[in-house]
Order: sequence, then C-alpha cells, then structure tokens
Amino acid sequence: MTATAGTPADTPSTSTAEQTDQTGPAVRAPGFPMERACPYQTPPGYDRLRESGPLSQVALYDGRLVWLVSGNAEGRALLPDPRLSSDTDRPDFPFLTERLASQRFDALPLIGTDDPEHAHQRKLLTSGFGIRRIAALRPYIERTAEALLDRMVGGGDRADLVTAYTLPLASDSTFALLGVPEEDRPQLDAWSRRALFPADAADADSPAQAFQDILDYLRDLIARRERVPGDGLIDDMIASARNRDGADPGGVDLEGLVTICSVLMVGGNESTSSTIATSVLALLEHPDQLAALRNDASLTAGAVEELTRLISVTDALQRVATEDIEIAGRTIRKGDGVIISTMLMNRDPNAWEDPNVLDIRRKAGRHVAFGYGIHQCVGQNLARAEMEIALNTLLRRVPSLRLSVSPEQVRGSVPHALLGGVAELPVAW
Ligand code: HEM
Repeated sequence: MTATAGTPADTPSTSTAEQTDQTGPAVRAPGFPMERACPYQTPPGYDRLRESGPLSQVALYDGRLVWLVSGNAEGRALLPDPRLSSDTDRPDFPFLTERLASQRFDALPLIGTDDPEHAHQRKLLTSGFGIRRIAALRPYIERTAEALLDRMVGGGDRADLVTAYTLPLASDSTFALLGVPEEDRPQLDAWSRRALFPADAADADSPAQAFQDILDYLRDLIARRERVPGDGLIDDMIASARNRDGADPGGVDLEGLVTICSVLMVGGNESTSSTIATSVLALLEHPDQLAALRNDASLTAGAVEELTRLISVTDALQRVATEDIEIAGRTIRKGDGVIISTMLMNRDPNAWEDPNVLDIRRKAGRHVAFGYGIHQCVGQNLARAEMEIALNTLLRRVPSLRLSVSPEQVRGSVPHALLGGVAELPVAW
C-alpha cells in the first residue's frame, strides 16, 4: 500500500489517495474517518464505501491506505481471526488520527492487547461484569438516575443532557461497580472527558496529561485498597492479581491493574453516555417510536438493542494483519491495516431489512456494536442496564422533553474517530 496524502490531526479526512487495487486500474481511495452529517446516521461518504464491496480501501490522515470492512459476513469472519492483531504497540498499527498515533499509550491493556496476555487480563474482569453483579447494581443505577433528574429538573427548564444526566449516570455506575469513593468521582469524570474529548477542554491540559492524572490517582487508590480492602471490583482484581503474582508469568501485576481500571473508566463511560444521549436525539426525531416506547415499557430492552445497532458509537475497530489473509476475493497482506466498521456491518442490507430505519420492535440483538470475538465488550451487560434505566426514567420523569436547539445545531462528537454520537444534547421541558 502507498502513502500519498495527508490531513491535519483530529479532523475528518476529506483527502483521497491513489489506490493500488488488485482488481483493476488505480482509483482514488476516500479519506477516513469521514465527517458525519447526523450523529446517528452513517456519514454520507459511507454510501460509496458500501458500493465498493464488503472490503475497500481508505486513506488515513497520513495517506496510508488501509482496508475498510463494511460487509457483515466478512467482519464476522475477520473479528475473531487471530491473524488480525489489536496490539497498539505494533509499529504498523493503524491509528485513525495523528494525535492517537503520537500518544501511543504503552501497551493499552485489554483492547490493545492480543492473547494470551489479553486472556489473562480479561479473566480478572469477567465475574465483575457478570449478569448477577450487574443485576445487583441496578437499584443503585435507578437511584442515581432519579437523583440526577431531580437536580436537572429542579435547576430550571433547560440543560445539556450529557453533562446533567447521561455522563454522570454512566460514570457513577462504573465507579460504583469498581468501588471508587464517591468524593473522588467528579474529578475523575473531568479527567476522563479531557482524555477523550480534548477539543472540549476549557483549559490547555493535554489528553495525555489527563490520562496520566487518572493513572496517578488509580495508583494511589489501589495502594490504599491493598492496605484497607473495600468490596468493589477493584478489590476483587487486587485479590486475584495478588494470588497470581509470581506464580503465573502471564499474570497481571498490580501496576497492570492501574491501566485496566483506566481503560474501564475512560472508554466505557463515554461510549455509554454518548449512546444514551444519541438515542434520546434519535427518539425525539422519531415521535412514533418515542410514543410507542413511552406507552409500553416492555419494549425498552428491544429498543436499547435497536438504538445501539443504529448508532454503533464505537464504529471503527482497528487491527493489523500478522499474516496474509484471503477474504472476499481480496488478499489482506501481512502488515496491512484493517478498519472494521461496526456501523456499516450493522446496516448491511444482506443482513438486515431496511437497515437505516429505526424500528424499536426489530429483533436487533445480533448486532456487533459491542464488537465480536475475543475483544467483545466486557461491559455490555452494564451498558445495557444503564441504557434501559436511563431511557425509562427520563421518559417517565420528563414527559415534555424536547430539543432546545434545532437538530442541525446539535454538536456531534469531535471527529477524533474513537467515538461517534453527540458531544452535548441541549434539551428543554
Ligand atoms: C453502549 C456502550 C458501549 C459500546 C457501544 C461499547 C463497544 C465496545 C466495542 C465495539 C468493543 C470491542 C473493541 C474491539 O474489538 O476493538 C468494546 C470493548 C471493550 N469495552 Fe465496551 N462498549 C460500551 C460500554 C462499555 C462499558 C460500560 C464498559 C466498562 C465499564 C466497557 C468496557 C470495555 C472494555 C474493557 C473492552 C475491551 C474488552 C477486551 O478487549 O477484551 N464498554 N466495547
């Protein structure tokens, strides 16, 4: 693959690059990631990607050509394929923006790690995110949703739903699961926002600094909890890591726990918050679907799946090939970057009827918005519980909810390509 074009960091790419396609004459590859027109619909440029077949080529910010997978069947074959690596330490890992490439957090745990190391890390978490543990957390999430809405509605007749409701709900739920002390949560929230949404930061602190602050905080917290254990997931992980220390060379040490907790905090909260807020926007723009959900709360679980499918907030999953892979008549060569679009997979007309239509009665549970294969989202039970509770409580408590700006004025996430959806949602009631 060749490198010919470039765009500034953190801007959606409008560039194209010469494509050395195996099947015909050179064509221009569209730039990626692409600008969205609507926070819950595919960017307009995705039509061309779909038309180019289940695998096509796109140009990254530095002109590097990588594969873009849009086909549902092809994505489902590739995501579990061990010949595709998630290792963010590899020099040829296809970061989506210059900023992400330059940050290169050392060996990002779980999501940026391959088996067997990944499996060791994941084992620490699975019981903590199991259905029983999340069911036990539901009353806390419900109480938090009510309290946040008390404050929001009591504070006037308009608010930004993200800062007033969806983000604190998502992060408080994760912090409660982990066992983070309540008084520390607002500061952690501020750091994780800055780590993910640098363009929103009011001050000049860099995302890398915010991430460092989170790591320092966690180091301190874990040291304290080693001395005086609590009853959160952090304490369970400390206990298992300590049991394995020394005994198992693949085990996770206590410093490893620090980065695992940081990934949970930074990644999980924003993706859930953004999905909830974007769901509210989509429902407000589809009054028939909104009315159906309001009138029949038993539709909520299905609506959550459908909205998660449609929004696919973590759209572009990045991998690098460690061997040649033949698929759909193409050869992905060793060292090639591969971007798997969950949004396009979730709207593949070969897999879904009327895929662009929001239909909360659809059986949407087989979507891949939570990924597929060994990295499939460990927090999905928590995310589903939060979404169900957040939507139900909001629709019941604030029946006159509406946008306080025109839909075109709703600001989408900064296009740094980790997360889609909305950055804020100005509402009134
Ligand atoms: C609607 C909300 C969410 C969405 C759409 C989402 C989506 C995803 C996706 C697509 C992956 C796979 C990434 C890949 O294959 O490269 C993933 C992995 C992950 N998610 Fe989520 N997620 C959500 C909520 C959460 C929550 C609430 C948490 C935890 C608090 C969480 C923690 C993680 C972790 C730790 C991984 C890495 C798992 C591994 O590599 O084994 N996520 N998520």
